[in-house]
Amino acid sequence: MLTWDELESACKSCAKCALCEKRKNVVIGTGNKQARIMFIGEAPGEAEDIQGEPFVGAAGKLLDKMLAAISLGRTDVYIANILKCRPPYNRDPSKEEQEKCLNYLRAQVALIKPKILVCLGRIAACVIIEENFKITRQRGLWFERKNYLLTATFHPSALLRDESLKKSAWEDFKAIKRRLNELS
Ligand code: URA
Repeated sequence: MLTWDELESACKSCAKCALCEKRKNVVIGTGNKQARIMFIGEAPGEAEDIQGEPFVGAAGKLLDKMLAAISLGRTDVYIANILKCRPPYNRDPSKEEQEKCLNYLRAQVALIKPKILVCLGRIAACVIIEENFKITRQRGLWFERKNYLLTATFHPSALLRDESLKKSAWEDFKAIKRRLNELS
């Protein structure tokens, strides 16, 4: 099993796919490395590529607000993405990119050992929960895999595009908080 130092240097020098050619920063993850809960997004966007941290743009600001509404901050959770490098024009990650990058996320999960994994959006849910995950129908459901509880909610960017999704996402966040409280 990799140590954090080994994982971070492997990510920083990674050249497994072409995304390494254009990146400004590898966006590994942020937050509490002993968190009981991990949030997983899709891939860094422009702001994340520049700052080297996940969810620091508009979607990240909304994520912070939603976390705050359930009394969580970035020091309580760990946040990462399926991809560590920004796809050009924020296009969806390709299957090949996902496969090449996924071992880094697996290593993060193995080091953190969270109890709950929350997928933010369809792409993360399709990778982490099941291949044909339908975000509109299956968000808010809970899945048990090995020792992990998995769930998915709408990606904060989707909430910015369509305000009508916010009510469901808020229900999901409240349920996430209840599950987290039940663990302690
Ligand atoms: N969207 C994501 O999925 N991840 C980020 O880090 C930023 C935006």
